[in-house]
Amino acid sequence: MNEITVLDREFSVYITEDEIQSRITALAEKINEDMNGKDVLFFGVLNGVFLFAADIFRQINFECQVSFIKLASYDGSSSTGKIKELIGWNEDITDKTVVVLEDIVDTGTTLERVIAELKLRKAADIKICTLLFKPEAYTKDIPIDYIGFEIPNNFVVGYGLDYYGYGRNLRAIYKLTK
Ligand code: IMP
Ligand code: MG
Repeated sequence: MNEITVLDREFSVYITEDEIQSRITALAEKINEDMNGKDVLFFGVLNGVFLFAADIFRQINFECQVSFIKLASYDGSSSTGKIKELIGWNEDITDKTVVVLEDIVDTGTTLERVIAELKLRKAADIKICTLLFKPEAYTKDIPIDYIGFEIPNNFVVGYGLDYYGYGRNLRAIYKLTK
């Protein structure tokens, strides 16, 4: 399945299922090394992160917690820049090490909002782990600690990422073909 259609758009395979999974194993190994012995709470940013969070979390080998928050700045295939409501905060994160899990960091607007909230709630240390990063689109200075793949500024779907809500169930990551 190299070429697919999601709604009205055509996409071609960009990162295969195997490539995704072996990169996740490498990221998890690094996090296991860096974070062992700390009181870590993994914080997934829904919806797009649900598959990545599930796959990486199963490879974390120390005692830790996971939780999810939800917000959205994206509407269809281009960033609206608008941040919607933020829901799902119920943990006390005071003095915890928080690892934010993201499916993709694009402009960084979402990330900035999440980080501001974590600081307000007095997290001891904040790390960021994203499967995909678009350096050309990134407008913030917040350093990203763990990156799966740096990708060009193309729209992608699959493995949790959507086009108008569709395409999240695809096992590989596909990019929009012009
Ligand atoms: P940011 O706030 O501009 O960094 O956008 C982050 C959010 O936009 C992500 O969590 C995704 O939900 C969405 N997003 C950004 N780029 C893409 C893409 O190429 N495909 C699907 N969703 C994307
Ligand atoms: Mg997302």
